[in-house]
Amino acid sequence: MGLFHSFASSSFFITASSLSSFMRMNLNKVVLSIATLQILLFMIRELTLDTFTAGTDTTYTTLEWIMTELLRHPRAMEKLQNEVRQLAQGKSEITEDDLGNMQYLKAVIKETLRFHPPIPLLLPRESMEDVKLLGYHIPAKTQVIINAWTIGRDPLSWENPEEYRPERFLNSNIDVKGLNFELIPFGAGRRGCPGITFAIIVNELALARLVHKFNFALPERMKGEDLDMTEGTGITIRRQSPLLAVVTPCST
Ligand code: HEM
Repeated sequence: MGLFHSFASSSFFITASSLSSFMRMNLNKVVLSIATLQILLFMIRELTLDTFTAGTDTTYTTLEWIMTELLRHPRAMEKLQNEVRQLAQGKSEITEDDLGNMQYLKAVIKETLRFHPPIPLLLPRESMEDVKLLGYHIPAKTQVIINAWTIGRDPLSWENPEEYRPERFLNSNIDVKGLNFELIPFGAGRRGCPGITFAIIVNELALARLVHKFNFALPERMKGEDLDMTEGTGITIRRQSPLLAVVTPCST
């Protein structure tokens, strides 16, 4: 809800800026009126809610799709485990410092975000003024919805887009940071995801630690192609059914 409050209501931003001048003014005198405090508490609550709403669902959804695709593609899982285990040799735990060299791990995450962007339609926008775009006239105040899911599978941008192949990112400069418009799982521009750096590191670290310490397999007699890939509905698109996997600690 917090997320929607903030993006749907422009008064949020007006309140935010007037609040900051309010605070500057009042903090100098170390006097906060009850009204200011109420607004301040409201802002803190809404921003905390925003961060939780926007940051938790998306992060675990990404990890769930990553594990799904790795279980469907055992060769990709093997390559990833080899990379992580080799680079982590002799260490009991992987830390952020180890992630820099894990190129295949980064490729797996990008490929999964291309294939399963957790927020496939990003967040709705509204045009502020009349715009001419590719010959179309878009009047001011038009709601604009960007389909990042379709963009990530566009055959004009991607070779064999329906194939899950992390290798496509190994010798490529394409990144998810909003500068390459063929891959925008975090959106782009000023409205893009503010949690992107944190989200990428959290996913990299979680994935690296999982495949470092554990082996994963599908339940007995189940093949990758039997996995139910149905997507749920909502703003964040998760698997419709929970992912079931057999997890065993790795002894190496
Ligand atoms: C893999 C994880 C994540 C993905 C894929 C993701 C994706 C997105 C997308 C697509 C948007 C809308 C951007 C747009 O429409 O251009 C967004 C907004 C947002 N994200 Fe993330 N996000 C992730 C993780 C996080 C994390 C960890 C945080 C916070 C710690 C966060 C905080 C936010 C906030 C506060 C907004 C709303 C910004 C606004 O209202 O303008 N996100 N995110």
